Amino acid sequence: KGESTVSIIVVGASGDLAKKKIFPALFALFYEDCLPKHFTVFGYARSKMTDPELRNMVSKTLTCRIDKRENCGEKMDQFLKRCFYNSGQYDSEENFAELAKKLKEHEGGRVSNRLFYLSIPPNIFIDAVRCASSSASSANGWTRVIVEKPFGRDSESSAALTRGLKQYLVEDQIFRIDHYLGKELVENLSVLRFANLIFEPLWSRQYIRNVQFIFSEDFGTEGRGGYFDHYGIIRDIMQNHLLQMLTLFAMETPVSLDAEDIRNEKVKVLRSMKPLQLGNVVVGQYKSHNKGGVTYSAYTDDKTVPKNSLTPTFAAAALFIDNARWDGVPFLMKAGKALHTKRAEIRVQFRDVPGNLYKRGFGMDLDRSTNELVIRVQPDEAIYLKINNKVPGLGMRLDRSNLNLHYAARYSKEIPDAYERLLLDAIEGERRLFIRSDELDAAWELFTPLLKELEEKKIIPEYYPYGSRGPVGAHYLAAKHNVQWGDINSAEQ
Ligand code: BG6
Repeated sequence: KGESTVSIIVVGASGDLAKKKIFPALFALFYEDCLPKHFTVFGYARSKMTDPELRNMVSKTLTCRIDKRENCGEKMDQFLKRCFYNSGQYDSEENFAELAKKLKEHEGGRVSNRLFYLSIPPNIFIDAVRCASSSASSANGWTRVIVEKPFGRDSESSAALTRGLKQYLVEDQIFRIDHYLGKELVENLSVLRFANLIFEPLWSRQYIRNVQFIFSEDFGTEGRGGYFDHYGIIRDIMQNHLLQMLTLFAMETPVSLDAEDIRNEKVKVLRSMKPLQLGNVVVGQYKSHNKGGVTYSAYTDDKTVPKNSLTPTFAAAALFIDNARWDGVPFLMKAGKALHTKRAEIRVQFRDVPGNLYKRGFGMDLDRSTNELVIRVQPDEAIYLKINNKVPGLGMRLDRSNLNLHYAARYSKEIPDAYERLLLDAIEGERRLFIRSDELDAAWELFTPLLKELEEKKIIPEYYPYGSRGPVGAHYLAAKHNVQWGDINSAEQ
């Protein structure tokens, strides 16, 4: 008595996200003893399945970390025993009531807390929320709902979605995931800035020349063309993942680490920015490429993509924050699929040293001698600072070297997946890493006019070969703002 239970209901349990991320993350939390004593996981989906069948499906998704092999099989069995299934339609109050009945049996009269993870297409979010809230919400504990993008396609559709959700939920019950916020190095951004003396004083237009947010994947939209073609890379990556990193990077010091204080500061950054201009954007789309006898398909070769699709699979953009700290500093974003490498990073390029004694000679390439701080979000997490250094020896020759915090070398622990942190936070009611409604609105306001213009004017993307470095237009855009992408010499990093 007085004890509570948590039921985690994965709505859309047989989908890709559930299999790839949600079940494995729940198991990892269970393995680490992070889940409450009394918890159950319920799969909910349309297909008919028994509990053992669900367990069999889930078991195939579970893995053990390299450093956590001990007892792993045993732990998996214990976890699977806590997994159940209820088949039902997403818009049926009756089916959700059946689920509620089962939940109640498992809760055994304890305080009931219920976390619904909507791992379903957005056009059925509202129906599912309506049914969950009317027929399956908790009577004596909390009910929370996790939703994941796409949150609409523009300001209007996003606002309509929020209005729909708010017919049944209050703001505090909505947990909007941007899984980039659950990544270790994104979470660390604030620590780097606010727990060290040496960075924050440099964190402004006075010392920073430009900041770059780069996302690249070395594979295309294989298998996801149907979804992707409706959204494109700007909605898929920039408006959310890259913009979230930008707000954390640029925000003022929050009053405290409280979720509302942090989100207030993030919203302020967004509201200090002007909507993106078409002239500050380059879009691209990958075309097929033949390499070493292998043909890599073009985006439009995907059967689920219209042959004449203009949807960008690559975009580069320059944004500006019109406040005292960042006035005039270009914030560049670049996101692309089917490029030469898989990487996500933030690069901070500093200004030149005024009156530099070592300006001439000394074997340095002057254009590339400014300090640069790189936060490599993935893969192979690292934070490194490029400094100019004397090459050891009798002469006086300088080179650029890295002060390097390489996570794999420094921390032997494997880094948890973003979904583990986010699920744990949702269970604990920690809202810091979730997107508030006003924040989402402000994010859409920046991108909506541009997205409409791209569609209305039918802007033709610059085609780039699969596996290349993307359209050259991205370099012209950077040059226009006096910037060189930091990853040009990627061998050097
Ligand atoms: C998702 C996008 O949000 O993020 C995908 O929809 C993208 O297109 C993915 O591949 C990248 O996430 P991660 O964690 O693999 O970098």
